[in-house]
Amino acid sequence: MTTVSDTPALKIALLGGGTVGSQVARILIEDAESLTERLGAELQLTRILVRNPQATRDYQLPDEYYSDDADEVLEGADIVVELMGGVERTRELVLQSIEQGSNVVTGNKALLATHGNELYEAAADAGVQLSFEASVAGGIPILRPLRDSLSGDKVTRIMGIVNGTTNYILDQMDTTGAYFNDALAEAQRLGFAEADPSADVDGDDAAAKIAILAHLAFHAPFSLDEVYTQGIGEVSEMDHTAAATAGYVIKLLAIAEELDDPNGVVLRVHPTLLPRDHPLASVRGAYNAVFVEAENAQELMFYGPGAGGPPTASAVMGDVMSIAKRKLRGGPGRTHTARRDLQALEIGESITRYMVVIRAADASGVLAKVAGTFAEHQVSIKSMNQTLDEASTEEDKTALLAFITHRAKESQLAQTLKATEALEEVREVLSVMRVEGK
Ligand code: HSE
Repeated sequence: MTTVSDTPALKIALLGGGTVGSQVARILIEDAESLTERLGAELQLTRILVRNPQATRDYQLPDEYYSDDADEVLEGADIVVELMGGVERTRELVLQSIEQGSNVVTGNKALLATHGNELYEAAADAGVQLSFEASVAGGIPILRPLRDSLSGDKVTRIMGIVNGTTNYILDQMDTTGAYFNDALAEAQRLGFAEADPSADVDGDDAAAKIAILAHLAFHAPFSLDEVYTQGIGEVSEMDHTAAATAGYVIKLLAIAEELDDPNGVVLRVHPTLLPRDHPLASVRGAYNAVFVEAENAQELMFYGPGAGGPPTASAVMGDVMSIAKRKLRGGPGRTHTARRDLQALEIGESITRYMVVIRAADASGVLAKVAGTFAEHQVSIKSMNQTLDEASTEEDKTALLAFITHRAKESQLAQTLKATEALEEVREVLSVMRVEGK
């Protein structure tokens, strides 16, 4: 029988005692026996770095666990678990951990999106592991499948709903007709919005996540400023109505896809129309999902809670266990897979479908003229729906025309729109949205 004295132990230092940090502490303490059984070693939580050691926490440990002295907390750690958030001070502490030979687990997407390359290189140089499953889509295991399970395949495209706040808002607007601000306030109350919700609403949170996903899927580093980012702030009731009429739902998608000519990856985050029968269209509320297309596996979908203490702590613990197993076996740290020289492409290279809603004179020949303008620019129309325009008057009879196009290059669409706007009969291009799915 194994006794405590002959069981090896690994020291875990925790940076941050917030929502996720507290849950990681809880699992390490409450599940200690079963973790030890599974690992063949103890995971010893040593100290927790917090700003205020006296504060009350979701999962309260005796006072001696908490410290505001980073050096003291990091000392002798086999694994440092960083869940404190923030970027610059956190970067310093992660680098300090790596330099002292500790492995690091982090859930900090902003840190990785900003300083990822520096940290991956530092970890590789020091021969330690840097794992970050919790940084994307909370409790969904997606990074390990991309890095390990799909390493014998070729990923061609990733489309993700990776921000729960915006999915919740769009879902509420679509299903209950809720107003944007009310839905956002509810998301904040439910606790999944970022401290500053503009990172959710403006698409920056999703952009950081797709940069991380693309790095693993395409084996090349990408940074946040290479992601074309458009948030949901301008999605109107009219957009929802036009999408619903055509059989679509609006989702904020984070997309990374490899193109052949020119070869590179387009990274984009924007409100997107999806057919209602697309698997991602069924992702409701604050849930997340990542849809992966690969040459041989074909289409896969990973679905689950994208935020929250226990789900995110589950992802953190998966990394901790994986690092601990490698450390016990004495193998080398996993090196990062930035082995391809693959460029991020401009959004103009992207090829997709579009919904274009215009307000135009309701008179004979107008539709033909607009359709002709699309044809001149090689943008083929798939369907069109005409509805009444509330702004229409006796003197100026107008209608709303909602076109769904076939696939076209973004730069061609831009030229089409310019020419359409210049038509005398066209009053306004009211909305342009990209459309994905078949
Ligand atoms: N604010 C994020 C979201 C959760 O709404 O999905 C953490 O990534």
